Amino acid sequence: MNITYKAPGKIILSGEHSVVYAKPALVTAIDLCLTCTVSTRKDRECKTHGKELNDGVNIIDKSVTNYLREKNIKHEIVPYDLKIVSQIPVGRGMGSSAALCVALSAALSHLYTGHPLSKEQINTIAYRAEKHFHGNPSGVDVSASCFGGLIFFRKEFEFLKNISALHMKIPAVISQNLVILDTGKPEETTAEMVAIVGSKFNKDPINTENTLFKMEKITKRMVVAVAKEDSRMFEDSIYQNQLLLRELGVVSHEADKILADLSLAGYGKISGAGGSIDKSGLILFYIKNREEFENVIKIKKIKIIPFRQQFRGVEEVGSV
Ligand code: PMV
Repeated sequence: MNITYKAPGKIILSGEHSVVYAKPALVTAIDLCLTCTVSTRKDRECKTHGKELNDGVNIIDKSVTNYLREKNIKHEIVPYDLKIVSQIPVGRGMGSSAALCVALSAALSHLYTGHPLSKEQINTIAYRAEKHFHGNPSGVDVSASCFGGLIFFRKEFEFLKNISALHMKIPAVISQNLVILDTGKPEETTAEMVAIVGSKFNKDPINTENTLFKMEKITKRMVVAVAKEDSRMFEDSIYQNQLLLRELGVVSHEADKILADLSLAGYGKISGAGGSIDKSGLILFYIKNREEFENVIKIKKIKIIPFRQQFRGVEEVGSV
């Protein structure tokens, strides 16, 4: 038996880091997917995928079986081979590990139970697995990958996450001007960047709380901009957002330099955990002057990823 599931990557439009402090985040699934195929095999020995990946697969597998046991869902654990194909860049904040957790949780739970689980169930299993990779993630990556589309996310407590599907597409007046710039893999991991903001918060709680509060306002403004199809409000939210991310200390000189080079072309903000030492991962960029944008991109050789939303979330793409 072969079971294949695919799950999309994501990009955070607003609210990275502040989401760790129970503020909202606005995130969308992006049309770059990771596909997992599990195939039953007769012998018990599992093929190896390299140590790092094997460890990851074992964690996800355990999360699936623990969940099925805990919920008394009838299942049979069988040996399998695994094939993973991914279009999502790794280590950039596009949610590649979340997409792996989601697609593999969906495929393995289907293999062990003989039927698909609900997206809510897959989300719970994948979030538990993702915690092993990223320490204390908010869960925003996993939810975007699982449910697809535009999501307004807020984690009130560990046991209460509000995941609101916004059921709206970013309107063309806005999305046609959006691109994702890949500034390269940051030196720091997401967990390290979360810890940097954490120590800032501990040292200077009043000012940091104030920045996080402003971030919440900007995230909500961005939602209003999308709902009202107001491109001016949207581009301003990107600009304000970046100022706040800088205050949090998650933007490197290199990322600032790229945005300074592109200052006549439009506005950008880092998206995801960022980086402070060297590269800062992804930049969500709003183009105001396309000719200028294309000139700078060519001269500076900046890699761009098209901004295309994905709406289906995790989906089965075939079982034989
Ligand atoms: O997965 P990344 O690198 O896009 O960043 C996650 C966003 C953070 O808010 C920094 C962390 C989190 O768990 O939400």
